[in-house]
Amino acid sequence: MSANPDSGQDTPQLSDQELKALVRERFTKTAEVFGNYAVANRVTEAETLARMVSANANDRAVDLACGPGTLALRFAKHVRWICGLDFTPAILERARHTAAHEGLLDKLTFAIGDAQALPFADNSLDLAVTSYSLHHISDPARVISEMSRVVKKGGRVGIIDIEAPEDPKIRELNHRIEVIRDRSHSRSLTHAEFESMFAAAGLRIFELEHKGHPRTFEHWMYVAGWKPSDREYQEAHALMADSIETNSANFSPRFEPADVCQPGKAPDLYMFNPGIYIAAEKI
Ligand SMILES: C[S@@+](CC[C@H](N)C(=O)[O-])C[C@H]1O[C@@H](n2cnc3c(N)ncnc32)[C@H](O)[C@@H]1O
Repeated sequence: MSANPDSGQDTPQLSDQELKALVRERFTKTAEVFGNYAVANRVTEAETLARMVSANANDRAVDLACGPGTLALRFAKHVRWICGLDFTPAILERARHTAAHEGLLDKLTFAIGDAQALPFADNSLDLAVTSYSLHHISDPARVISEMSRVVKKGGRVGIIDIEAPEDPKIRELNHRIEVIRDRSHSRSLTHAEFESMFAAAGLRIFELEHKGHPRTFEHWMYVAGWKPSDREYQEAHALMADSIETNSANFSPRFEPADVCQPGKAPDLYMFNPGIYIAAEKI
């Protein structure tokens, strides 16, 4: 392990290999529960990104770190051909199963691979997309530069990810809660960091949207594999609840009375995950 000098956080940073092992463990353990959630609930997000990058019938594309096929399954309906690439076999198998069930395997193929070293030739694709992956990767700038490398000049790159707050103190608590929830969380990027990584990769951003989603804390923890009786659940819950007054972790949490049909149940904790959508062109 080594220090994490550029995150503004005092948590230790894992080596690339350590992080990859944790990511595989997390997404093997939650392949079903996370996969069911992402494929069912991120349809509008995938369609929004497809519109932003003008996905069309001429495109040959890659969805990297595709997980259960969240983007790839939707993009397959728009493009000529798409490859879903991920390095966690269990979640890729789930993606393949859904694609077969939906009759998409003539256009959608899957490959095991590392998003930091894409197995495609320079300038060979029209479109490269990824969602909710960069915060799990030790070198997100390299991933963005790989996306740029594999698309042709004029080709498009699209990403969706969670967005880190600019304020370093708020970012630190946000990061602490994220890591308690998920040890395979590397770090979220700020708007400014996304912009500079895109520019450094020779990508011109032509559309950018801030779009988060509200959810319950319980569900957020559930898709990461935790139950209310788990220590990690309780630790993250306490920090989240403490952050309500000044929104000091940028999750905009609030309590709401539980369902009237469940008298005596503790109030539900609601939260908001800020997100960023970026569409860019290779110049
Ligand atoms: C939070 S999931 C997102 C999955 C999907 N894109 C979605 O939006 O639902 C993160 C995914 O990134 C994959 N991943 C993380 N680091 C990777 C890397 N270096 N190369 C390939 N896949 C990676 C994980 O295996 C996991 O499936």
